[in-house]
Amino acid sequence: MNFSELVDANENNLLNIDYYLLDILLKDRTTNKNIIWATDTYEPHGKNYSASSHILIEQIIGKHGQVIRPRIRKSQSEQFKRINDKGEVFTPSWICNKQNNLADESWFQKRNVFNITKGNEWITNPAKIDFPKDKNWIEYIKSIRLEVSCGEAPYIVSRYDTTTGKIIGTNNRIGLLDRKIRIVNENTTTKEEWKKYVIESYKSVFGYEWQGDSLLIARENLLYTYIDYYLERFKEKPYIEDLKEIAEIISWNFFQMDGIKFVIPNSCKNELEIDHTLFGEQRIKNECLGCKKNNIFLHNGTYVKIMNWETHKPIKFISLLKNKK
Ligand SMILES: C[S@@+](CC[C@H](N)C(=O)[O-])C[C@H]1O[C@@H](n2cnc3c(N)ncnc32)[C@H](O)[C@@H]1O
Repeated sequence: MNFSELVDANENNLLNIDYYLLDILLKDRTTNKNIIWATDTYEPHGKNYSASSHILIEQIIGKHGQVIRPRIRKSQSEQFKRINDKGEVFTPSWICNKQNNLADESWFQKRNVFNITKGNEWITNPAKIDFPKDKNWIEYIKSIRLEVSCGEAPYIVSRYDTTTGKIIGTNNRIGLLDRKIRIVNENTTTKEEWKKYVIESYKSVFGYEWQGDSLLIARENLLYTYIDYYLERFKEKPYIEDLKEIAEIISWNFFQMDGIKFVIPNSCKNELEIDHTLFGEQRIKNECLGCKKNNIFLHNGTYVKIMNWETHKPIKFISLLKNKK
């Protein structure tokens, strides 16, 4: 397999590197099953492609290798349906860059640290990045970043512009993880050191998304990003075991969640159950109080878990929210 072919993230390519990489990237760490489609746009492919079905490897490889396509390659009618269903409109890289620059401006207390914007473009700062007196590069790569409703995760990694499909070279990338890897590149010498801090960088970036296909693409984009930078730095293929470690982290940190309820999409139960008793039929309502009262702490759906990488213990995402009741 020629790693430079991997510019176009594709499940068959991933499978050619190692079967278990795709297996890991499809895992839902909360349910211990695979992520679900969570969109009905794949239903024409068959009954196991319904919104509530889990995405299975065999549904997206081989002759089905083109079933999941990035938004830019989806048909116009599919794009419109997804806008109506889930407000799926992606952000151009130059806007992601401007907003990421604002986050860095606040962290560094300085403007134009990584690049200078010029209209809808940017000019990358070629000099080694300086750090403020009271902060260091390790603090930067460990500082937590989250892309809410991440789609294909353009704020985190920028291998291509999600709105035009234009490929962006590693030297000009603007994602929050891209910036951290640049810092690691500039401050490490040995391969072991590089790998150690790149792993720390991956542990510090998070994203959640409703739709399973976009989430898988986001996860693939993060994994290919590692391959891109590794290839560029070491002029050789990364080790499969290292890729698996990165894929495991990604599968925890980029998760499927309804960002309004903090549960797995559509997992709240609101059903009428009919109980047949001696005295006739009795209707029991299995109703979600969280949905009824619009209270994020009372849902009966499956609350999403993420990994606390410091303690190595999973925690519920909702436990991070203040004002607990
Ligand atoms: C406007 S797009 C933005 C995607 C990406 N962050 C970007 O800037 O290109 C919104 C995304 O939110 C997702 N979404 C919609 N409702 C959601 C919800 N309740 N929870 C999580 N994601 C949701 C959609 O599937 C879609 O991918």
